[in-house]
Formats: sequence, structure tokens, C-alpha cells
Amino acid sequence: MKIKIKRYSSEREANGQTVAYEIALENISLLEALNHIKTKEDPSLSFTAGCRSGVCGSCAVRVNGKEELACAYKLSDGDLIEPLNNLPVLRDLVVDVQKMLEFNAIAKAWSSTNSENMPLLPEQAEVNELQSDCILCGACYSACPVYAVNEDFIGPFALTRVWRYVSDSREQDVQEKIETIQSNGIWDCTLCNECVPVCPQGIAPKQDIAMLRGKSGVMGFMDPNFAAGMNFGGGPDFGQPSF
Ligand code: SF4
Ligand code: SF4
Ligand code: FES
Repeated sequence: MKIKIKRYSSEREANGQTVAYEIALENISLLEALNHIKTKEDPSLSFTAGCRSGVCGSCAVRVNGKEELACAYKLSDGDLIEPLNNLPVLRDLVVDVQKMLEFNAIAKAWSSTNSENMPLLPEQAEVNELQSDCILCGACYSACPVYAVNEDFIGPFALTRVWRYVSDSREQDVQEKIETIQSNGIWDCTLCNECVPVCPQGIAPKQDIAMLRGKSGVMGFMDPNFAAGMNFGGGPDFGQPSF
């Protein structure tokens, strides 16, 4: 079979080169094909991978425009392989994930609770089980169209992670976490759903963002764009929490 790989020498120039490879193997994963090309045909091909079993999240790329894990994707004749979107390309299929990972810190997407004496109850574990399965593959980040207009958008996986913690009954800093995601966060999401079908873990960031919006509303926050539209004539500022 023949596949094409969009290759870049360094940055994501507009003119990355599309290279065709003939592979005399059938029923293989994309990662097996990349390894085959690198070891048998072209050692200069660059890509990332780790576990080879859908656990580490390091092999995500785009296949025919859709985000996939290379180790889990079964290759087809004619497939076009490209690096993830919305991230700087270092070389070929390797992207720089540093900025993407920083959004977890910006969103305060961690537990602020000393859970030493507060064990996770089985019923609570069920509430957060799915969000806890995120492998930080970046597929949702790559698929999100908001980054085309706002590179500071906190984004799908970090917001999903925030929902994981604010919906944890043991969490003590819910107010701070909800405040943090009001700017460049939940209200910037268009609820387009692009992040949902690409997640290899079955997580639905859009739904978690909708839940965060609901919780924000209960806590007195409001979509600042909607609030600005209502806030003519010097009325109350609906963008701020009111308790
Ligand atoms: S639903 Fe929101 S977070 Fe998900 S891809 Fe669309 S805009 Fe991005
Ligand atoms: S939410 Fe899903 S698609 Fe997004 S980084 Fe986590 S595992 Fe990957
Ligand atoms: S190599 Fe780890 S998820 Fe694919």
C-alpha cells in the first residue's frame, strides 16, 4: 500500500513537503508503518511514540484530517499523515507540546485538597473516572477551532480536568478554580463538539465544559459577551459573581 506523510524540516512552514511511501505490509498499525519506514527506508523520518498500546498519548497525529493515535490506528491505502494542529512543529510529525501542557497549570487543573484523611469513596470515583482517564494526547487540542482565533484558550483537556476536580466532593478550592476559567475558558468554547469524537479515551470535553458553565451560573458568573450585551446604561456588571 502507499501512504503519504507531510514532512517538515523544522517549523510548520506553509510548504511542508508531502512524501509518498510504498509499504509491502498489510494489516498493520500506523505506528508499525512509521517504524518500518524509519528502520528500512528512511531513517530521517521523525515521530514520537512510547507505550505502543494506547496508554502514553505520545503518538497522536492526524490521519486524513482527523486526530488518531498512531499505535491504535489501522493503516489504509492512500492515508495522509500529518502532525497535530495548533502546536509548533519541531520536525515531521513531532510537535512541541510544552504550551499545551501549560494550560493545566493556567487552569489550576489539580486537586487543592489534602486528601490524606479523605479517601476517595467508590461512588465519588465513579463520578470522575472518565475524566481521570485523560492521557494528554493532545487530540482534542488539535481538533479545537478556537485556537485559530485565541491562542490563549484554556482548551478542552484542561477544562475537562478542571471539571474532574470541581465535581469532586472533597475539593476545597472550587470557587478559585471556577473563577480561573471565566477568562479564556468556558465562555470561549463554541460547543462545536469537534473535541469529542477524536478522544481515544471516550472523554467528552464539550459536555464537561457545559457542566462547568452550569456550575458557574449557579455560582453567579455569566457569559461576559452576553453580559456585555445586557449591560448598557450603566447597569450591574453581570460578568462578576454575585453572592
Ligand atoms: S466543543 Fe469547545 S473545546 Fe471542544 S473543540 Fe469545540 S470549541 Fe473546542
Ligand atoms: S481529553 Fe481525550 S483527546 Fe483530549 S488530551 Fe485527554 S485523552 Fe487526549
Ligand atoms: S505509543 Fe503510547 S499511546 Fe501510542
